[in-house]
Amino acid sequence: MPTDPPAACLADLAERARAVLPADVWDYVEGGSGAEVTLRANRAALDRVAVLPRMLRGVHTPDLRVELLGRPSALPVAVAPMAYQRLVHPDGEWALATAARDAGVPYVASTLASTAVEQVAATGAEVWFQLYWLRDRGLVVDLLDRVGAAGCRALVVTVDVPLLGRRLRDLRNAFRLPAGVTAANLRGGRGDLAHGGAPGVTPVATASAFAPALRWSDLDWLRGRTDLPLVVKGVLDPRDAVEAVGVGADAVVVSNHGGRQLDGAPASAAVLPEVVAGVGDRCEVLLDSGVRSGTDVLRALALGASGVLLGRPLLWGLAAGGRAGAGRALSILADELRDALTLAGCADPAAARNLRTMRTD
Ligand code: FNR
Ligand code: LAC
Repeated sequence: MPTDPPAACLADLAERARAVLPADVWDYVEGGSGAEVTLRANRAALDRVAVLPRMLRGVHTPDLRVELLGRPSALPVAVAPMAYQRLVHPDGEWALATAARDAGVPYVASTLASTAVEQVAATGAEVWFQLYWLRDRGLVVDLLDRVGAAGCRALVVTVDVPLLGRRLRDLRNAFRLPAGVTAANLRGGRGDLAHGGAPGVTPVATASAFAPALRWSDLDWLRGRTDLPLVVKGVLDPRDAVEAVGVGADAVVVSNHGGRQLDGAPASAAVLPEVVAGVGDRCEVLLDSGVRSGTDVLRALALGASGVLLGRPLLWGLAAGGRAGAGRALSILADELRDALTLAGCADPAAARNLRTMRTD
């Protein structure tokens, strides 16, 4: 039987994932909201960032290690929180978290994971927990207690989902979670809260699941309830990044949720420099949405980010080959980043933050 040539880049893994996934699951993973303008803008904005490489800097093999939230990471990369990973592979969250552990990078576990956070933490990965602020505050308290007991290292509050963006592909496909894929963190029969499947609504999370009308002051309550580092994910306006600093965030993630929330929002790379300027050194700034290569990580660093979250490419790897496939995605990214830093004359990710960039049109 002919074997596939090795994947040379993350996009090669996308092709394989597409070949093995049911069409509606592929669409749920790949799709954005509305006309997918923001989804496309994420790529276009990164492609427009030209990085000026430095020459003869005496760099041989760059050191890729960094600290994220004061803890060591093998790369300036963390696995983005993504719901229901058992949709794309039966080993789901366990496999991706194990690959993250092996690669030495943090794994952000979603509130809407299809594997309980305790099982994810048992892989030994550096686990950060992503919180969706549920309407029922008792459930939030329960989650916070479990997250602390499981040994998670950070709390990532996602602030760009007062409701799910309108995912037209899912609506057209009448996408439903298959039997056996449930919100495993919301136990005791509360999984229905997450994906009750109201007509016309993407049933991965019902509108009624999320607390309505949250304010920044609600995060004060959260800050007071946990000693874990707090990450605020999903800001684009620098004023919101400053609000996050005000409630004691240790990091913000400049993100438009991979183009899945407000269609027409700007590309995250386009607003990153302003956010970095706005918060200064008061908190770390991470970027996600559209990162597809080591070059993109270099671009993000050169624009002032401390690191990136990587989303869909890891689901491609997971779909294509379970734990090994997810590991392959992370090792491709590490190899690409090592090469990009070398070519740019940077001994480490910190040096990349001093590179100059140009916007090319
Ligand atoms: C997500 N994202 C997400 N974010 C979050 O805070 N909680 C979640 O449960 C999910 N679920 C989720 C599922 C799927 C299938 C995708 C593709 C994305 C958003 C995610 O964390 C991240 O912001 C984007 O995926 C980053 O963009 P790229 O790398 O996918 O382009
Ligand atoms: C999504 C949610 C679950 O983007 O965050 O599908």
